[in-house]
Amino acid sequence: MPSLAESPFQHESFEAQARHLACVLALPAMEQVGITSSARITEPVGPGLNNLFLLRVDGIEHLGCRVPGANGELDSRLTPDMLLGTLLEARWDEQGWHCQYQPLTDSQCSALFQQALTSSSHRIHFPFPELDSQCREQIAPPCFWDAPQDLAKRLDRQEQHFRDTTIALLSGRLRPGAIIHDPACSTGTFIATLARALPNSQCMGADRSAAMIDHATACHHLPNLSFEIADAQVPVMPKGSCDVLILRFLNAEMMTRACALALFEQLTGLIRPGGMALVFGQSSVLLDVGQQARRLGLQVASSLAGVPGSLQLFQFYQLICPKPLPEQIPS
Ligand SMILES: C[S@@+](CC[C@H](N)C(=O)[O-])C[C@H]1O[C@@H](n2cnc3c(N)ncnc32)[C@H](O)[C@@H]1O
Repeated sequence: MPSLAESPFQHESFEAQARHLACVLALPAMEQVGITSSARITEPVGPGLNNLFLLRVDGIEHLGCRVPGANGELDSRLTPDMLLGTLLEARWDEQGWHCQYQPLTDSQCSALFQQALTSSSHRIHFPFPELDSQCREQIAPPCFWDAPQDLAKRLDRQEQHFRDTTIALLSGRLRPGAIIHDPACSTGTFIATLARALPNSQCMGADRSAAMIDHATACHHLPNLSFEIADAQVPVMPKGSCDVLILRFLNAEMMTRACALALFEQLTGLIRPGGMALVFGQSSVLLDVGQQARRLGLQVASSLAGVPGSLQLFQFYQLICPKPLPEQIPS
């Protein structure tokens, strides 16, 4: 095995990233911003790129940088103090991502975070996956998920806001017997919490890790909850049969962006007309979800959610599969 220093720079991945940036960036005309001052940063090719995010509000991109919390861990919940400024220019080359931005005051950052929740077109996107210094996407190997007892506490603690937001969204909204499917259910805590809160639904968790499914089956017993070992690439239900599809694994470090794109397209085919997909995750979502959803004919009902009583925001997409128009009755 060559050492990192000797291994060649991954030009294919570099070019794929350049194409992604060209698709996702909406840079404003300078006069739209009314520049009073500007600053620059360069983030070298490497893992730090995955901390940069773009908050798009009213078509204007604001650059931010996620930093670890007091516990040293990165969190999916972002705060206004992470915003650097309004993005003016960006250039991607083999040295990294070079950005010019107009700095924002604290009150402007807070105002943007508040405004962010007012439209489904406002969104947070992480333009880079987890990359190493050779521009290779970094993926946790499948065996990483084979120690559920060690992971459970941390994973479950990091997901409380996802559980609360999902229950608040779904309560009182589902038809009796509605199928909720979590195709990468991990410890099972998320889908089990939904099963308990929504007793008239049928909740199905699957995961390709047998250790995770053993753990989930041992920990969660509810009449409306089942688990099975399955790779999400092999769907466990017919197309068009799922009321709520939970996608919380199309994320950095879980898989490559190309894999996430393919799985998104395949799995959203499971949703029945009128049903929905929810897309989020502890690590950053790899796709420009809004763009991909529209391509597949899904409506974006929301892109972000907030933690009540705070200004914290996180990626949380609610995508609706439209019902076909009723056939016209001949007169
Ligand atoms: C739910 S995801 C991420 C959980 C983490 N708390 C987060 O949000 O970043 C982790 C789970 O996805 C599972 N997984 C990854 N790829 C999968 C696939 N293709 N099919 C089924 N499960 C998969 C892993 O085995 C693991 O248990």
